[in-house]
Amino acid sequence: MQISRRAQQAAPFHVMEVAERASELAAQGADVICLNVGEPDFGAAPAVLGALAQLKDQSLGYTGAAGLPPLRAAIADFYRARHGVEIDPSRVIVTSGATGALLLALAALVDPGDEVLMADPTYPCNVQIAEAFGARVRLLPTVPAQRYQLDAALVESSWSERTRGVMVASPANPTGSCMSTAELGQLSGLIRERSGWLLCDEIYLDLTDGDAPGGSRRSVLNIDPDAVVVNSFSKFFGMTGWRLGWAIVPPELVEPLERLSQNYVICPSVLAQRAALECFTPPTLALLDARRAEFRARRDLVLEGLDRLGIPVPVAPDGAFYVYMDVSGTGLDSAQFCTRVLREAHVALTPGVDFGPSTAATHVRLSYSASREKLSEALRRLDAFLGGL
Ligand SMILES: Cc1ncc(COP(=O)(O)O)c(C=O)c1O
Repeated sequence: MQISRRAQQAAPFHVMEVAERASELAAQGADVICLNVGEPDFGAAPAVLGALAQLKDQSLGYTGAAGLPPLRAAIADFYRARHGVEIDPSRVIVTSGATGALLLALAALVDPGDEVLMADPTYPCNVQIAEAFGARVRLLPTVPAQRYQLDAALVESSWSERTRGVMVASPANPTGSCMSTAELGQLSGLIRERSGWLLCDEIYLDLTDGDAPGGSRRSVLNIDPDAVVVNSFSKFFGMTGWRLGWAIVPPELVEPLERLSQNYVICPSVLAQRAALECFTPPTLALLDARRAEFRARRDLVLEGLDRLGIPVPVAPDGAFYVYMDVSGTGLDSAQFCTRVLREAHVALTPGVDFGPSTAATHVRLSYSASREKLSEALRRLDAFLGGL
């Protein structure tokens, strides 16, 4: 059987491989602390689980390809109430996670040979998805002074006649860093001048700290109403395995995305959609906001701990639940560091190789989506590990 070049070339997502090794160790009885996967430890809110339990007697057929109308309306309301943007619910396309939204959006925006610009470091699956539709992704190395984010000057100097669009995430994975409103505005203005598109991954938007720079807990839609937005129930709503997310797109993309969704997936999971309607009640939103505050406390605990250990975090996160630390001072490269820390200290971390070449050898991502007790214990173990080097 001939395996496609695409399948042969797709890079593995190392975080999943680390997760497998961590599970093997745990199966052998080791007490492994998993700080490798980007998955909130809280899970779905109780009201959402309760709504799922109620579904057993209902017909669970296909929904429309763009999702249930009440859910599309609830997402539009959420953006109005939380982010001050008016969106017609018809512009909301419910998808199978942000991943499904990225697939549909890039299927609609990219032709073979088109160039797409992204920051390095970046969330790796976005690169794979764009390339699956024939895009040539150019990863633009960024530095801590840019908070590892693209800026208008870098995009301007990198724009070629093949460039069609720019993808950003704010807050970003693996760094948790935000783009300020001003930076997003400059970038959007430049892309508009070039008749390109801006795709903004807002999956961590509602996990942005209140004091992030430049009032950045604001949707890009406040700045650029034509931006293509992807978002998800996975992170703020704690529903990773439910596979539910959404895209918000300009009116001319609605019909193409619906058509692509009909063909590619028929519709997102009806179970997840019906239960997700419970996400937007005031008590559930209050619970989720309290969880964000807990992430903030964990962030401080981890940053103070790493500082004590002498491991630099060049850019403190503004949100999400990641710190991207520079382990080059340990004398180990990031892969060696992660392998040894897992084997010797039973702490699972993700090496920078997942996130792009510029920080592959030097940086490691720690996901603080674990209890403060576990994080403190992980820091104690790291301390002992470093002491033994
Ligand atoms: C920046 C970013 N975008 C998209 C995704 C995919 O999320 P989903 O579970 O909604 O498909 C992730 C998952 O970690 C992510 O970090």
